[in-house]
Amino acid sequence: MLSGWPSMQRSLLQTPPLSLYVHMPWCVRKCPYCDFNSYTLRETLPETQYVAALERDMESQSADVGGRPIVSIFFGGGTPSLFPPEAIGRVLEAARHHFDLAADCEITLEANPGTVERGRFTGYREVGVNRVSLGAQSFDAAQLEKLGRIHSAGETTRAAEELHAAGLSNFNLDLMYGLPGQDVAGAVRDVQQALALSPAHLSHYQLTLEPGTQFAAKPPALPEDDTASEMLSACYAEIAADFTQYEISAYARAGRQCRHNLNYWSFGDYLGVGAGAHGKITFADRGEIVRTTQQREPRRYQAGSPAAIARTRVAAADLPFEFMMNALRLAEGFETRFFSERTGLEWEAVQPKLERLAARGLLVMEGSMCHPTPLGLRFLNEMLVSLLPESAGLAGKQTLSTGS
Ligand SMILES: C[S@@+](CC[C@H](N)C(=O)[O-])C[C@H]1O[C@@H](n2cnc3c(N)ncnc32)[C@H](O)[C@@H]1O
Ligand code: SF4
Repeated sequence: MLSGWPSMQRSLLQTPPLSLYVHMPWCVRKCPYCDFNSYTLRETLPETQYVAALERDMESQSADVGGRPIVSIFFGGGTPSLFPPEAIGRVLEAARHHFDLAADCEITLEANPGTVERGRFTGYREVGVNRVSLGAQSFDAAQLEKLGRIHSAGETTRAAEELHAAGLSNFNLDLMYGLPGQDVAGAVRDVQQALALSPAHLSHYQLTLEPGTQFAAKPPALPEDDTASEMLSACYAEIAADFTQYEISAYARAGRQCRHNLNYWSFGDYLGVGAGAHGKITFADRGEIVRTTQQREPRRYQAGSPAAIARTRVAAADLPFEFMMNALRLAEGFETRFFSERTGLEWEAVQPKLERLAARGLLVMEGSMCHPTPLGLRFLNEMLVSLLPESAGLAGKQTLSTGS
């Protein structure tokens, strides 16, 4: 053991809540800003083959989690709403077969407003979906065009109306701001139009240029940083009337926070099934936290064995950063005991560094809680840099087994 490095203690580590992420990798058309593991669908959707691959994946990974209850399921993408309700129903049936779903399990499906024909939401609800996340992005026709979106603002409005009619009022709208050529008034108009559709939740992201995307190769002219900050403040004033900000980009009505994302941000566990899906599983009895990564390319994923999943043990030296990268996103922060229970490390492993951040006004430690200040939320990256393991080489991950 190298002096100065934290060590995980099996006796501290506890088993956290468990979620299930299901990745659906296809989209009608790849958006120029998107770096998710998603692919333009060029032929017929391989619905049957993909669902069968997901079933095999769940069966194979069920051995890792025994009888632990699943508290939330999230169908993300890509565009899960390309799959009809029957296909989503088959995946959920398999999930019920291989896992124990909590009675109040939150089941979210991401939907693109351009892919939801009439009646689809009722179908999703009938097979068990109880929350939807709709990719609105903007309500401005010119912006939707620049973003390469396949839908109009009218289609987003119609989708929201259908969600309410289908009894799925617990829905999120994804919006982006800081769009090419956008001004503050334009960003505020988008928020107002989103709020007029009475969502339960709003995710409000600043458009970023991600490496490897079309926008990174040929960057559009984006607003200056000062303008983007002004947009955020002006939009916040609109959103805060009915919603509470509980994470950097997430706002919810009372009781409508996304439980699935909250579990990620609280350093909970999740199984990741589907092409390129990531998972994190705590083995408290062995004193280990393991990250999993499935085959990224959909055809290879479908053709391969689910056992080819890559497993990587998280090194103790990486845990403070990994925990804080999630927990410090939360406006309410976290209970300090969770740090030890979910990393197996003594609180003292991070306390001195956190005290230095508190002295700079970036976070507050009060009783059993630690939370970022508004300044800290704004400068999260700066805070995290100070929590990085001191040497990436020494803190390197240990690979347990790798598939091809
Ligand atoms: C997987 S997508 C959501 C569902 C669906 N595929 C859609 O786009 O309608 C997740 C969300 O991340 C956001 N997003 C994706 N790329 C982004 C980027 N480069 N900058 C900011 N937000 C981004 C978008 O708001 C998007 O809706
Ligand atoms: S933003 Fe959504 S629809 Fe667009 S490519 Fe990414 S995952 Fe697909």
